[in-house]
Amino acid sequence: MTLKKSASLALMALAVSFFIGCSSKEDRDKYDQWYGSGSKSREEAALVKLQSDRKAAAEKAEAEAAAKPATPAATPGDTAATAAAPATDATPKRKPVPAEVSALLNKHTCFACHQAYDKVIGPAYSEVAKKKYTADQIVELVHSPKPEHWPGYPPMAPLAHVPKADIVVIANWINSL
Ligand code: HEC
Repeated sequence: MTLKKSASLALMALAVSFFIGCSSKEDRDKYDQWYGSGSKSREEAALVKLQSDRKAAAEKAEAEAAAKPATPAATPGDTAATAAAPATDATPKRKPVPAEVSALLNKHTCFACHQAYDKVIGPAYSEVAKKKYTADQIVELVHSPKPEHWPGYPPMAPLAHVPKADIVVIANWINSL
């Protein structure tokens, strides 16, 4: 009886040690080697890694391709000229707004929607200048705007209260931009 009991205990111990032994990492690797990975999650992890590696390689190649044409362009002597050209172009163009004009643009809240060189709600005055309006036309357009002149912009509210003399000063400045 006791012999049988201890024999079965020994058998159980053997089975448990066998089970533990089998699930060791070495065994798992061996199993993977011969039968392929037994775990779906491990397969997926490997696939994800492969994809991210490929993506990283593609991005690296792309970055190198993008960098290459830029490097020869950066070496010749004319780059100094091309780099300097827009800077020298832009600086004298951005003239400060004369004090009396600035005061009028503030007083009549034009600055809320217009800047000299940047689009705000309305077009930049430097863009309006390209339309080559006369001062009288600008007076007329401030008193009764024509939104169809500026597709893509909201319509400007008519500013009929702004004195003509003030708008003429603004208009002459706009045309000087
Ligand atoms: C609430 C915003 C707003 C204010 C304030 C405003 N404008 Fe405008 N302005 C616009 C918008 C938007 C446009 C373009 C759409 C349009 O012409 O209706 C415009 C267009 C213009 C144009 C071009 C007109 C054309 O038809 O080409 C001039 C000139 C102009 N504004 C001058 C002024 C002056 C001067 C003032 C101040 C007295 C002023 N604006 C105040 C929003 C404004």
